[in-house]
Amino acid sequence: MRMGLGGRAGARAPWASAQEPVKVGVVAPFSGVAGDYGKQMEGGMKAFFKLHGDTFAGRKIQLLIRDTGGPNPEVAKRLAQELVTRDKVDFLAGFGFTPEAMAAAPVATEAKKPMIVMNAASSVVTTRSPYIARFSMSLPQVSAPMASWAARNGIRKVYTLVADYAPGIDSEAAFKKAFEAAGGQVVDSVRVPLRNPDFAPFVQKIKDTKPEAVFMFVPAGEQSIAFMKAFEERGLGKDGIKVIATGDLTDDDVLNSMGDPVLGVITSHHYSAAHDSPENKAFVQAFRDVNKDLKRPNFMAVGGYDGMAAIAEVVKKLGNDIDGDKAMEILKGLKLTSPRGPIAIDPATRDIVQTVYIRRVEKRGNEYWNVEFDKFADVKDPAK
Ligand code: PHB
Repeated sequence: MRMGLGGRAGARAPWASAQEPVKVGVVAPFSGVAGDYGKQMEGGMKAFFKLHGDTFAGRKIQLLIRDTGGPNPEVAKRLAQELVTRDKVDFLAGFGFTPEAMAAAPVATEAKKPMIVMNAASSVVTTRSPYIARFSMSLPQVSAPMASWAARNGIRKVYTLVADYAPGIDSEAAFKKAFEAAGGQVVDSVRVPLRNPDFAPFVQKIKDTKPEAVFMFVPAGEQSIAFMKAFEERGLGKDGIKVIATGDLTDDDVLNSMGDPVLGVITSHHYSAAHDSPENKAFVQAFRDVNKDLKRPNFMAVGGYDGMAAIAEVVKKLGNDIDGDKAMEILKGLKLTSPRGPIAIDPATRDIVQTVYIRRVEKRGNEYWNVEFDKFADVKDPAK
């Protein structure tokens, strides 16, 4: 007699050798101005599969990709809800923008599903659900080292410019606190709209104020190009005003489109595609092999890679018994050798502890790179 799948409720068909896949619901922008956020994260996850396989404890990891077209918090929440109720995912992952992560956090809490944050970087994100673990960065974590480095290197008067939403406000506050503690002065601060800012009037005001440097954070992508264009057109570089920024400005995904105005810009960040380590060489190569459209991985890709490495650790340990609370116990205190260097998840905050690098944009051949030349080891989010 042939026994149907429904023959014994809940039992696995005896001839089915493959086990159920582990489902990972990925919520991020995959289209629109921030479409590369999701593509970079997915690219990083695919690079992980290329190097380490996609099956752990006999279970294949399956990605369910969902596009918010964002920043779009309501859509992110609805997609997260559908993923847990209809698709029965084991993990939520992705999350490019802070408002999208914040909107989805209650869904993770209610469903008790681990939520692996691969970018969203305002400090508060990890506090929004006990099921969140962050594998990217926080803005205070990368902004404070930039302030320390600037003060140590003779910069005294800085003007800050940030995007007017949680990550920007975090960045401004952390920079100011660390810079003033080191003897520097923030001469003025401006916050620009999150969507389509016109940088020209802000840049003119900075020029008129004559600071030694402008410190800035805007979300990675098109805005970086627009800012550097306005900076160049208004001649701030010629006036001797330096740009210092978080590495979002010189994002590897758009760096080659920024041209010579970006040469020499100094940034602080957790990942550069030029990071010199065997792990990173393997990662960059694997990323190139599996992604036709993207030329090199950026910091969101390394967030995707490490987030997937963490999911693989959980699957290896829990096998067929994946449970949100048990998964979180594994994630808390997890240590990995990432392509970016050593990383750990702080068990108290579920936020990442990592090296923050100081880098300078240099041209090698026809390409621009963030070349690391200084670093701060074991940096926690100073805002927590
Ligand atoms: C965020 O919304 O948290 C965010 C977006 C883009 C970045 C960094 C942070 O480059």
